[in-house]
Amino acid sequence: MSQLLANVFHSEDSIPEHLKISHPIEQREYLINGELKTWNGNLNPVLSPVFIKDGNNYVQKNIGSTPLLTSKESLEALEAAANAYDLGHGDWPTRSVVSRIEHVEKFLSAMRLKRQEVVKLLMWEIGKTQKDSEKEFDRTCDYIVDTIKGYKELDRNSAKLIEEQGFMAQIRRVPLGVSLCMGPYNYPLNETFTTLIPALIMGNTVVFKPAKYGVLLIRPLIEAFRDNFPPGVINIIYGRGRETVGALMETGRIDVFAFIGTNKGANDLKKLHPKSHRLKAILGLDAKNPAIVLPDADLDNAVSECITGSLSFNGQRCTALKILFVHKSIVDELIQKLVREVKKLKPSMPWEEDVSLTPLPEPGKVEFLRDLVEDAKLHGAKVMNEHGGEFLNSFFYPAVLYPVNEKMKIYSEEQFGPVVPIISFEEDEEAIEYVVNSNFGQQVSIFGSDSKRVAKLMDAFVNQVGRINLNTQSQRGPDTFPFNGRKDSAEGTLSIADALRVFSIRTIVATRNNDGNKQIISNIIRNRESAFLSTDYIF
Ligand code: G3H
Repeated sequence: MSQLLANVFHSEDSIPEHLKISHPIEQREYLINGELKTWNGNLNPVLSPVFIKDGNNYVQKNIGSTPLLTSKESLEALEAAANAYDLGHGDWPTRSVVSRIEHVEKFLSAMRLKRQEVVKLLMWEIGKTQKDSEKEFDRTCDYIVDTIKGYKELDRNSAKLIEEQGFMAQIRRVPLGVSLCMGPYNYPLNETFTTLIPALIMGNTVVFKPAKYGVLLIRPLIEAFRDNFPPGVINIIYGRGRETVGALMETGRIDVFAFIGTNKGANDLKKLHPKSHRLKAILGLDAKNPAIVLPDADLDNAVSECITGSLSFNGQRCTALKILFVHKSIVDELIQKLVREVKKLKPSMPWEEDVSLTPLPEPGKVEFLRDLVEDAKLHGAKVMNEHGGEFLNSFFYPAVLYPVNEKMKIYSEEQFGPVVPIISFEEDEEAIEYVVNSNFGQQVSIFGSDSKRVAKLMDAFVNQVGRINLNTQSQRGPDTFPFNGRKDSAEGTLSIADALRVFSIRTIVATRNNDGNKQIISNIIRNRESAFLSTDYIF
């Protein structure tokens, strides 16, 4: 074993005292109808990607367990959410905007108190570095603040009557019903909350099932959910997807399906809904975002962006750069620089200072990546960096692969991990062809300075992907920007403002603009007789 690998995992006594998990956290609680219930059935063990070095042995850290609920409990959660919605007449969907905002604000204050606990669990459960875990928590809080701001603005824009072709009308956004929210393991807090919070604030009721990994970290927030939302408005369930979520979809009583994961998973679940026309889906799925590096690109910038783009959180971002097209004239120089930068990335435990590379949470992932690298080698690629592709337990050292071609799996399969495939091209058309023929359509990054050439590429991609990045890596943020994708990459658009739209529908009250109707409308507004028809302005 190389010295590099030998240094990745540490002994128990090297872990800072306040970050240790001395006893596994046995979670038996789940939330239904405002009540923390206790589960007495089977539990799902939570194994950390962190292994503890004990002499020459490595022991995978067991950090706890979560309830393995069955379809019975998940259907109870659905019942609670459906009752709270009460076919649109429930207390939550009919509450004033101000009141729903107050609940979310109180929840946010309670959530902020749990920062340390959640950050610690993010590190242990998914191996995210401390810095990135803190960023995930803070970004989520900011997202909630901005969502509140966005909702106020949306409401203000609706606080007026419009007159058109002899009609007067008021248009407002109202909730859709019962939402099922499921997030991914790479952003188990942030991405989940980017659907959960807008769903709630718009007046929907929610069944929330945490991601496959990154489950325990929701536990510190359960009381905040229970105490700050009325019973049944938010219900949190745990267990295997097919058993719990499948049962929910089969009832046909889910109105909105918010899911961040694989397109296969989304398809399988959507198909279970008996009335697909009544199911609104908002999906964030797979991607294979390419970077295209042109001959006149600022190479230092391109390398630095490609490094963070393909290797931050070990490449486990849906927006990561997953294949690099580099012009033949600069490919050798770029690889040299890239390899030099990869070498600077520190592999270690998530809480170590300046760490970049950490163990991977998915069981079997290391083997999957090893097979991708072997397959590429078999078809002519070389690992260009020292230690590239070396692995130990759950840790996989980044492999820079070159030259990559279409016979290799890595050419079209999403690696979602630390493998950086590089293809050299002569004609820009080669990169365009790749994007056009790809099953994915999330983003692309172009690096170059010749405006004409860049513009030509941009125009070639505008009908292929959701975002074209110039001289920067692909990414979701800022969260006010629309985040979406085409083909197998997404359904619908998320952003602070878009999410509020996705979880709502416009309803209109309209009447002919005559004296009698004007009088009725004016009475309703002046006497505050309707919650919907109102010109109240939220500050
Ligand atoms: O995993 C996909 C995330 O939406 C990516 O977000 O670009 O901010 O890392 P990010």
